[in-house]
Amino acid sequence: MSLYTTQDEKKKAAAKAALKHLPKGGILGVGTGSTVNFLIEMLPELQLEAAVSSSEATAERLRKLGIEVVDMNSVASLDAYVDGADEIDANLHMIKGGGAALTREKIVASIAKKFVCIVDDSKWVNQLGVGFALPVEVIPMARSAVARKIVSLGGDPVYREGVVTDNGNVILDVHNLNILNALELEKTINDIPGVVCNGIFAINKADIAVVATDNGIEERTAG
Ligand code: 5RP
Repeated sequence: MSLYTTQDEKKKAAAKAALKHLPKGGILGVGTGSTVNFLIEMLPELQLEAAVSSSEATAERLRKLGIEVVDMNSVASLDAYVDGADEIDANLHMIKGGGAALTREKIVASIAKKFVCIVDDSKWVNQLGVGFALPVEVIPMARSAVARKIVSLGGDPVYREGVVTDNGNVILDVHNLNILNALELEKTINDIPGVVCNGIFAINKADIAVVATDNGIEERTAG
């Protein structure tokens, strides 16, 4: 028996529960995806000074609600960054990029004092990369070269057809990676020439995960 009847209800509940971890009247970094979309609708109550957005899609939603979206170059740091994840583990390491916004998400998260991750419990995993392919953003001319290097690491890259990122690049979704050391693999993949960014968020992991479970909201920290 669950408190929620749909996954969307869980996403909305996680978003609502995250509000108390976000600054009132400050500048907030805002991620991308269906969970964050629920949060964006609730943001007017925080009376933010402004937001830094991780995607064109999020920026449009924020502006529609009258929230000013500022260029990241005009901001030295953010009180908090809030975003969903495709997978998150007990270290609060994540896989992100299902929505192809991973690079800007990682950049915006990197200047935030804390990362608040909002998820339903289907995203909580024992090991990253088993149930979700790792997105890697790649400069188009390097697509095949990067794919070959990833095969040599044991991964199985699949070109995400028809997707161009906000930065004009393409996405390889890498299946069958054995992500036992997320920190190390994040750096190894970043070092491949032509890779712009990969969807492992371990160097900048979440500080708190607000997880909607069948029994209600759980706030989890790394342990
Ligand atoms: C986009 C992301 C999203 O945070 C991730 O895909 C989760 O999305 P959703 O909340 O729709 O499940 O990383 O690049």
